[in-house]
Amino acid sequence: MPTFPDDLISLSVFGLGYVGCVSAACLASRGYRVIGVDANPAKSEFLRQGTSPILEERIGQLTAESVASGLLTVSDDPEQAVLDTDITLVCVGTPSEPGGGLSTRYLERATEDIARALAVKAGWHVVVFRSTMVPGTCEDVLIPTLERGSGKRAGSDFGVCLNPEFLREGSSVRDFLDPPKTVVGESDPRSGEMVMQLYDGLPGPRFRLPIAAAEMTKYVDNSFHAMKVAFANEIGAICRSLGLDSHTVMEVFLADTKLNISTAYLRPGFAFGGSCLPKDLRALTYTARHHDLDVPLLANVLPSNEAHLRRALDVVTSSVRRRVGIFGLSFKPDTDDLRESPLVELAERLVGKGYQLKIYDANVYMSRLTGANRAYISERLPHLGELLTDDADEVVEHAEVCVVGTREPAVVSAIDRCTDDHLVIDLVRLPGAERRRDDNSYVGIGW
Ligand SMILES: NC(=O)c1ccc[n+]([C@@H]2O[C@H](COP(=O)([O-])OP(=O)(O)OC[C@H]3O[C@@H](n4cnc5c(N)ncnc54)[C@H](O)[C@@H]3O)[C@@H](O)[C@H]2O)c1
Repeated sequence: MPTFPDDLISLSVFGLGYVGCVSAACLASRGYRVIGVDANPAKSEFLRQGTSPILEERIGQLTAESVASGLLTVSDDPEQAVLDTDITLVCVGTPSEPGGGLSTRYLERATEDIARALAVKAGWHVVVFRSTMVPGTCEDVLIPTLERGSGKRAGSDFGVCLNPEFLREGSSVRDFLDPPKTVVGESDPRSGEMVMQLYDGLPGPRFRLPIAAAEMTKYVDNSFHAMKVAFANEIGAICRSLGLDSHTVMEVFLADTKLNISTAYLRPGFAFGGSCLPKDLRALTYTARHHDLDVPLLANVLPSNEAHLRRALDVVTSSVRRRVGIFGLSFKPDTDDLRESPLVELAERLVGKGYQLKIYDANVYMSRLTGANRAYISERLPHLGELLTDDADEVVEHAEVCVVGTREPAVVSAIDRCTDDHLVIDLVRLPGAERRRDDNSYVGIGW
């Protein structure tokens, strides 16, 4: 039996499926001592023999080498595995329940085993959840299970981290060693630091976050990836029905790294609008329907936008205050274009419900005077035209509720002058707004 230095960090890995096997073999290949544990004896036996229970590029060789070197071993005693190691990675399955919810039964069972070991363990131990779980699961279900079972406190007597895995089956060893990013949610900085160190030398950006935010990152990624596939396939189906080569069309789309394959449009804010996006989505989904094509993703983008607008309306109406100030009216800053602006829609619905409005938008106010947008305002929105002012402070004075739809500097300073008596609904997350997240008189709808 080989001997290892006493200060060598050692890990136990619970669950030897795709994530667990790859984590165990890759960490052992990086020089850590790893003990694998699985509820299925057949999987444990495979690994004990130096054979990977999963089929993946390079995993067979890595597993055989790690087992032969003595760095990767297997235990049938979960509690002893925790007692013999510094860090436990939990990689058990989290399948769907029949209703779509996430089953935490395997997580809870593994966590109970770990808690029993923590109850009698003297040294510092970090429990790291790698399984995918909906935000809140760790803090609401797993940490209480660990604390109840061990009689100890997370963050002070032992550490808990959430370290989602971003590997793709088929290229998982490559992805583990060349990750797109490393994310660690932590109960305390010491534990976060210990877990981050496991990945020292690996490329990609690193993030240390609150535990629930780390849980969410995995869902953001997977839902976006699924949406990308569905989007490409719906576009492909429309192209095909129009006799177009979808791959030629998508090459052009993909070549645009300013607006398409970029960070553009991905920060939560208010609904979209303007003279192009709503009109073009309507025309494209109409064309699909005309060709008997079902494109539910594209067809539901405008309803999603409407739902977002309604969220803003609901915050105003549930505030039971009648005097409302709106900052920004055009569909985006630095323009006076009001066509299909969601802020116009919001203002019109509030006027329709009898709210007393004042609206600040310097660009729109000017165009009303100079004629650029005059006809549109006087013909389509005569009632809103009368509510416009170019004095942001006048709106603050009028309003009990301030709805912020622009990050214009004059608006930032006007909102700074709001008192605790104002309810501020910040649709655009003004600079510094994150500091007021817990303030009941300052709310967002997408942040
Ligand atoms: N497969 C992927 O590509 C991938 C990628 C990223 C994240 N994830 C997430 O990682 C988690 C694991 O996924 P997977 O594909 O590796 O699952 P898997 O089903 O392949 O493996 C899970 C293993 O956990 C074992 N297990 C169950 N209960 C146990 C317990 N109490 N103690 C010890 N072992 C136990 C099972 O026997 C099984 O071998 C899931 O939450 C999944 O959503 C998966």
